[in-house]
Amino acid sequence: ATAYETILVETRGKVGLITLNRPQALNALNSQLVGEVNRALDGFEADPGIGCVVITGSEKAFAAGADIKEMQAKTFPQSYLEDFITSWDRVANRRKPIIAAVAGFALGGGCELAMMCDIILAADTAKFGQPEIKLGVMPGAGGTQRLTRIVGKAKAMELCLTGRMMGAEEAERAGLVARVVPADKLLEDALKTAETIASMSLPIAMMTKESVNRAYETTLAEGIRFERRVFHAMFATADQKEGMAAFVEKRAPAFKNA
Ligand code: CAA
Repeated sequence: ATAYETILVETRGKVGLITLNRPQALNALNSQLVGEVNRALDGFEADPGIGCVVITGSEKAFAAGADIKEMQAKTFPQSYLEDFITSWDRVANRRKPIIAAVAGFALGGGCELAMMCDIILAADTAKFGQPEIKLGVMPGAGGTQRLTRIVGKAKAMELCLTGRMMGAEEAERAGLVARVVPADKLLEDALKTAETIASMSLPIAMMTKESVNRAYETTLAEGIRFERRVFHAMFATADQKEGMAAFVEKRAPAFKNA
């Protein structure tokens, strides 16, 4: 099946664009939507013409969290047996770079989905938070872990324990957001950033993503070792030769993803 009901999927040149589209529920993330996002990402990962993906929502909401109405009646055995939420991790384990373009609410699972992406660009209207505690639960899609690593314990603890929302400026100051842009320029800016990334050598961009992510998963010494090995390996690519030759010859590089 190629039809999507809860997201819109487009290709803009070398950029794959996924727009979360459940406006009646502020893009609440139900199992169908997450399944469709994973299916769309499978397609973009497999398409050699795609170099970067943008995930965005609406003006009002990136996503207001996991779908509370779908979750409400779940029991422990049921959530354990279906391994509830683990399929969301597939977004974090993608190899091509993904940009989250966030306007409006990015709450609960919405904030967690954004943090699974590689870069968060925020409209000045963006509001981030982990309000799960107000529902009698806590973040279950990485919020207690990724938010803590990104913004540090003090702010993560405060956000998770009070459920308060933080605005785009505060999120940028805290290091959650790469850049804040005016809301009416958000998609344009995100697509431009994605296009820039997609114009690079794809294997080099993928290795760069993999290396930066190592910084979150290992010690500094191991991370540096990993970086050094991958850096050395890059000299076996045609794109390294092309990139450096183009600089010396004062022309634009023509990367071949090789
Ligand atoms: N799940 C299901 N439906 C949701 C939803 C959610 N997370 N968030 C909003 N909606 C629905 C509302 O129920 C409402 O539907 P109806 O019109 O049928 O009543 C519609 O979207 C519009 O929402 P509001 O009327 O509430 O809009 P608002 O502008 O007054 O408020 C809001 C916006 C402050 C974001 C409010 O909707 C809100 O608090 N939403 C819930 C946020 C939340 O708690 N998220 C965490 C979910 S738990 C989680 O994500 C677990 C995890 O870690 C994975």
